[in-house]
Amino acid sequence: MSDDQREIQTHSMKIRPMKLEDVPRVHEIDVLSFALPWPEKSYLFELMENPTTLALVVEVTQTNHSPLVIGMVVVWIIMDEAHIATIAIHPAYRRQGYGNKLLAETLRQIIQRGVVAATLEVRENNQLAQQMYQKFGFRIVGHRLHYYKDNNEDAVLMTVDKLGVQYLDWLGQLAI
Ligand SMILES: CC(C)(COP(=O)(O)OP(=O)(O)OC[C@H]1O[C@@H](n2cnc3c(N)ncnc32)[C@H](O)[C@@H]1OP(=O)(O)O)[C@@H](O)C(=O)NCCC(=O)NCCS
Repeated sequence: MSDDQREIQTHSMKIRPMKLEDVPRVHEIDVLSFALPWPEKSYLFELMENPTTLALVVEVTQTNHSPLVIGMVVVWIIMDEAHIATIAIHPAYRRQGYGNKLLAETLRQIIQRGVVAATLEVRENNQLAQQMYQKFGFRIVGHRLHYYKDNNEDAVLMTVDKLGVQYLDWLGQLAI
């Protein structure tokens, strides 16, 4: 199985590559999660035209057995560096470990593609997300002043480096 087809699956959830038909639902989650959501066409661009993109979704199986996308991540991979462009879990499914699982699987997949460092921007006031990233070894390396145009909020720039085999072992021990 190639990286692009890789899936992780448990009895009721799986993390799999994002498909074009996921985009309306992904956009719905985006609108519920961010003050400045991406337009649907940005996701279409990422899937169809951006060869550097890794885009994954979290899919759960509902009690009626139908699948439902409840989270997504988009990562840009340039050489051995990755930038996590967006990550969100649907509000109704938060605090159940899906964010941890999605971030862990994203880090696994980018490491397998040879990435050694990952960065992201997060709103200064978004402490919950910052806590999640810190759990995975991201640390604050800078600030981008007035980065978010809706309220002029600063972005915190976070990085995790030394990604590699040892980090993968450590991730395994986190049992996420
Ligand atoms: C950030 C986000 C993806 C986390 O998803 P989630 O499924 O709720 O996350 P999990 O339940 O797996 O928790 C992940 C970690 O986040 C932190 N966290 C998330 N919500 C928290 C809360 N309400 N209180 C305390 N810590 C919280 C914790 O460190 C937690 O790890 P722990 O449970 O082992 O302590 C989700 O809150 C979200 O989509 N937020 C809106 C979009 C967003 O802010 N994305 C990040 C932008 S950079």
